[in-house]
Amino acid sequence: MRKTRLLAILGASSLLLAACGSGSGGGSDSGASDNKKPWEGDASEVAVATWWEAGSEKLGLEALTKVFEDQNPKTKFVNAAIAGGGGSQAKQKLAADLAAGSPPDTFQAHAGAELSDYIDADQIEDLTGLYDELGLKDAFPETLIDQLKVDGKLYSVPSNVHRANVVWANPKVLEEAGVDAKTPPKDIDAWIADMEKIKAAGKTPITVGMAWTQTELLETILIADLGAEEYNGLFDGKTKWDSDGVKKALEHFEKIISFTDKSLISEDWEPAMQPVVDGKAAYHVMGDWAVASFDTQKKKAGEDYVYFPVPGTDGVFDFLADSFTLPKGAKHPGGTKAWLTTISSKDGQIAFSTVKGSIPARADLTDEEKGKFSEYQQNAMESFGKDTIVSSIAHGAALPVKVSNDINDAVSKFVEGGSDLDAFQQALMKATDSVGK
Ligand code: GAL
Repeated sequence: MRKTRLLAILGASSLLLAACGSGSGGGSDSGASDNKKPWEGDASEVAVATWWEAGSEKLGLEALTKVFEDQNPKTKFVNAAIAGGGGSQAKQKLAADLAAGSPPDTFQAHAGAELSDYIDADQIEDLTGLYDELGLKDAFPETLIDQLKVDGKLYSVPSNVHRANVVWANPKVLEEAGVDAKTPPKDIDAWIADMEKIKAAGKTPITVGMAWTQTELLETILIADLGAEEYNGLFDGKTKWDSDGVKKALEHFEKIISFTDKSLISEDWEPAMQPVVDGKAAYHVMGDWAVASFDTQKKKAGEDYVYFPVPGTDGVFDFLADSFTLPKGAKHPGGTKAWLTTISSKDGQIAFSTVKGSIPARADLTDEEKGKFSEYQQNAMESFGKDTIVSSIAHGAALPVKVSNDINDAVSKFVEGGSDLDAFQQALMKATDSVGK
């Protein structure tokens, strides 16, 4: 049921199932009609739950909100964002609100396995008919539609796509240590050799922040060491978490963690990355929302920072997409429809992603529209179109929320020094016990 093996379905001609009803698009009505769609009704406001609450992420949400307000002057935007990168706080509050039957009008959820949590719990509406009304089925690439579809139905509308397997590096720190900033290392071993040089030069080789950032670093090392196909096998039981391949990746992870500044391991991604921006550390692995942080600090690509795929993952796009839902029992479903309409529109997607560092989920941008994006983002668009796509663990694409949370716990215990490598691998096996069953 879950879409966890995107690689396997790439190339498969998965046509969308015919959707129910065409609908007339909206607005409020008396509520008496038999054919009333779940997204019809009160449009006076929309409470939007995200974790885009700080720094460059907040600026991205503000850019999107501006388009929303221009497009929907009669609908009040209510910001229900909760701080904490990766949804570290927001997801808990959301789970409590959903369980209590008081959902926001829409909430941010990752395309892929994370959506299944809400669907299995019967907490979100099927939006397949809304895709028809808004003409969205052809707007998004088939690979993304496949990630969003569960049992042939579409339950959320994507706003943007991010890439997780990117190293952000400070070229001056690299050069001072005799590391060529223009030629990225070929694999994890070569990368570790560069980290040794940086350490010897007296700088912090790499930084990492709180649990989910550690998981993101780990997943990219798993991709590098296992390759895309075996990595994908981790999510349907074909690759065992107790395999030698995983063990090798964990050994690499242990070595890389030994180079980090431990005082940062409880920090959110932006403060954890800041030493790289400031020239005190060399590397940080982070999703490409990081580019927005460099941009807002007026740093120049190529001069103040460089970026490259995590060594050993060139040609692989570690994918995640933000998408928005209509929770069952939302008080302002007409407001939700307005929000979903804006975030899926070209104007909304371009305004958001140019500020947020992501790329639009829509696949129908003209060359002129693509020209509005930074060099990094144009590069990411090209990679998304041609690379092998794999799903992020840390950002809900590969595994359900409960499994990702258990992985985060195992990873942070190890990083904090609370378990050895064997115990770590066993904890990962336990966390993923339900996978593929
Ligand atoms: C991800 C989300 C991104 C970005 C990131 C850091 O989970 O998909 O859009 O917000 O967290 O907070």
